[in-house]
Amino acid sequence: MMDNRQIMTRVEEILASMTLEEKAAQMVQVPYAFAGREESLRWAKMGAGSFLHVLGDDAREIQRAAIEQSRLGIPVIFGIDAIHGHGLNDHATIFPTQLAAACSWNTEVARIMGEVTAREVATDGLHWTFSPVLCLGRDTRWGRVNETFGEDPYLAGEMGAAIVRGYQGEDMSDDEHILACAKHYIGYGEAVGARDSCDTEMTYRKLREIFLPPFKKAVDAGVGSIMTAYGSIDGTPFTIDPVTMKDILRGELGFDGFVVTDWDNVNSLVRRQHVCETTEEACVLAANAGNDMIMTSTEFYQAVLSAVRDGQVKEETLDDAVRHILTVKLRMNLFEKPEKTGRPGCFGCEEHLQHAKDAADKSLVLLGNNGVLPLREAKKIAVIGPNADDVRAQYGDWTYFTHPKLNLEHEPVRPYVTVKEGMEAACAARGMTCAYHRGCSVLDGEYEDIAGAVETARDADAIVLVVGDVIAQVGEEKDRAVLELSGRQMALFDAMRALGVPLVTVLVASKPLAVGRAAAQADAFICAFNGGMFGGEAVAKAVFGEINPCGRLAISFPRASGQVPVYYNQLPGWHCQQGKGYCDLPEGPLYAFGEGMGYSAFAYSDLTFDRETLMAGVKVTNMGERTGTETVQVYFNDVVSSVLTPVKQLIAFKQVELAPGESAVVEFALSREDFSLINRKEERVTEPGGFELMIGHSSREQDLLKTSFRL
Ligand code: BGC
Repeated sequence: MMDNRQIMTRVEEILASMTLEEKAAQMVQVPYAFAGREESLRWAKMGAGSFLHVLGDDAREIQRAAIEQSRLGIPVIFGIDAIHGHGLNDHATIFPTQLAAACSWNTEVARIMGEVTAREVATDGLHWTFSPVLCLGRDTRWGRVNETFGEDPYLAGEMGAAIVRGYQGEDMSDDEHILACAKHYIGYGEAVGARDSCDTEMTYRKLREIFLPPFKKAVDAGVGSIMTAYGSIDGTPFTIDPVTMKDILRGELGFDGFVVTDWDNVNSLVRRQHVCETTEEACVLAANAGNDMIMTSTEFYQAVLSAVRDGQVKEETLDDAVRHILTVKLRMNLFEKPEKTGRPGCFGCEEHLQHAKDAADKSLVLLGNNGVLPLREAKKIAVIGPNADDVRAQYGDWTYFTHPKLNLEHEPVRPYVTVKEGMEAACAARGMTCAYHRGCSVLDGEYEDIAGAVETARDADAIVLVVGDVIAQVGEEKDRAVLELSGRQMALFDAMRALGVPLVTVLVASKPLAVGRAAAQADAFICAFNGGMFGGEAVAKAVFGEINPCGRLAISFPRASGQVPVYYNQLPGWHCQQGKGYCDLPEGPLYAFGEGMGYSAFAYSDLTFDRETLMAGVKVTNMGERTGTETVQVYFNDVVSSVLTPVKQLIAFKQVELAPGESAVVEFALSREDFSLINRKEERVTEPGGFELMIGHSSREQDLLKTSFRL
C-alpha cells in the first residue's frame, strides 16, 4: 500500500494527465438501473467516476469497460444502498435496521454489522455503501426514522463511528472492506412537519450543537465520503450551502474524503426547490459549493464543461473535486485491484447469520412485563396479528423488496424467521401447541377476520399479538401524520384483551408508533422494530426467556401523534417546565429514551464524582435471579447557561454484565468538553458554573442518581 505522500504524488500525476472532459466525467455518478446497460457502458468509456445501483456481473462489465476502454483506465467506484446489510442483493445477510440496532446500545453490534455488510458488498464486486445515516430521528412522523440511530446525537455518533470502522476496516485497502458514506449532511430529519426533504427550521448554532456531532465522530473515525441532504437551511439548500459544505465540513472537521450529492440533488435545485432557473445554473452552484461527485444528474457533465469555458467555474474547482475522488480510490487500492474479491461463499454464511441473530437478540427492547414473561406454564399459545408472519414488514425499508424499484412481489428468500415461525419452533421444542391467525391487515380494507382470530385465541394460555406498520408506510416520501396503529389493529387488540387471556403485544414496526393501550393494557410489551432475518426468532427467545432482553430505547415513544416530537433532550421553557406537556395528555413520553427492562432488575447506589479528575462512578447490582446486561447511562445538565441547554443530555454509557446478586462499580472518565455547549458565537465552550450529573438506568428522572458540582 502507498503511504499518504505517495498517494498525493500519484493523484497529482493522474490529474495532470486528465483533460477537462475527463475531470468532468470523473465527477459524474451514473444511475445504472435508469440509464440502462448501453448508456452506462458509454459513460464508462468516457471515464465516469462512479455508478450506483448495479450488482455483480453487470458491475464487472462496467468496470472492464472503464479500465480497458476509457483513455486513462481510471477504475470506477460502485455505490449501493447497503443500509442494514447488503439487502438489495436477495442472498445477503439482513440485519436489524439502524434504529433497531441502536437499541442494543452496543457499538460492537454496529461495528460487526458494518464488517459483515462490507464483506458481502465487496464479494458482489462493489466498493461503497451509502451508509450510515447520521440524521436524528427526533420528529418521528418522518418516514426515514428507521434509518437513523435514534434521537440522540451522542448515541448516534457512537454507533455511527463504530459502523464506519466496521465498513472501512483499518484503511479500506483490503479485499473485505469498503467505503462508508455518512449521510445526509445535514439536518435532513429535521424538516418542517417531518415532511421528507422539506425546509429545515434550523440555525447554525443549533446545527452545531445537535446535528453536527455525529458527523464529527464519523469524520474522526475516517469516513471516506459524505452525502449531502435534500433539505435547506434558512433558504439555502444544503447541497449548495458554503457554510456547511466548506467552512464546517472541510475547514473545521477536517474532512478529506469526497462529497457526493444525494439523488438528483442538482436538478432538484431547479425542479423542486426553485432556486435556479436552469440546470446549468444549478451545476455552477453545486460545483462551486464543493460537491465532488454528482449523483444521477448526468446533465452536470455538459453543463460544467460550458461553465468552465465561460469562466463561471474555475478548472481548479474541478481539480479539487477530482483530487478528492482519486485520493479515495487510491486509498482503496482500486488502481491495483479494481475489483475487490470479498470472501467467496460468504453470503448468508453461518458466521454472518450468527451475527444477524446476535444483533436481533441484542436489539430487542422489553418495555412492559407484569410477570407474564417469560412464559412457562402453557399448553397452547396463540400467535395473532398482521405482522406476526410478514417478512416484508419485519425487514422494513431498503431490501430487495423495496429498492431501487418497488418490488414487493419478490419472493422472500430463506433463511429468515418471522415471529410466527419462531414461536412455532419454540413451542414445538417445549411440547406446546402454537396456533396462528392474522386477524387483520395493517392497512385498512385489505383483510379482516377478527372473529376468526378470537376463535383461534379463545382457549389459548397466552396470546402473542404482533402489530406494527408495513412498507407502504415507511421510507422516502412516506411520512405519517397519524402514528396511531393503522387499520383495524386496535380493534384486534381489544378483541384479544377481552378474552382475558395473558396477552403479550409485540411491535414490529419501522419506528415508535403511538401504541397507546395496545402496550399499556397488555401484560407485556416488546418493541422489536425491524429485526432483520432473525427478528422473529429473537422475539420467541425473549418470550420464553431463552435470552434475557437487554435492549434500551434509542428513541422515545409518544403517547399520541400530537405529542411528537417527544425526544428526551428538550430545551427548558417557561410553561413547559418539568416535562409539562399538553393539557389533554399525561406528562412525558409513553416510553422514554434509554428505557428497557429484562428479567433481572438492577439497583444503583454510591454515585461518586471527582471534580478534579472528572471521574464518575456508580455501583450497579443485579437484584434478579438471572445474569443480565445493564446499560449504565450518564447524563448532565448545565444548570445556568448563556443559551438554553437541554434538561438533560447523554454524554456517556457503558454496558456491564452481572450475575445474580453481583455488583460492579462502573466508572467513566469524563472531560470538560463533555459539559460544553455551543454559545451564541457558535463556539463550543464549557461555561463555568453549576452542573448536575445524572447516572442511571434510563433518561427518566426516577431512574437517575444525581450529584451537583461546579466547574
Ligand atoms: C436517498 C439516499 C440514497 C440515494 C441512493 C436517495 O433518494 O435519500 O439515502 O442513498 O437515494 O439510492
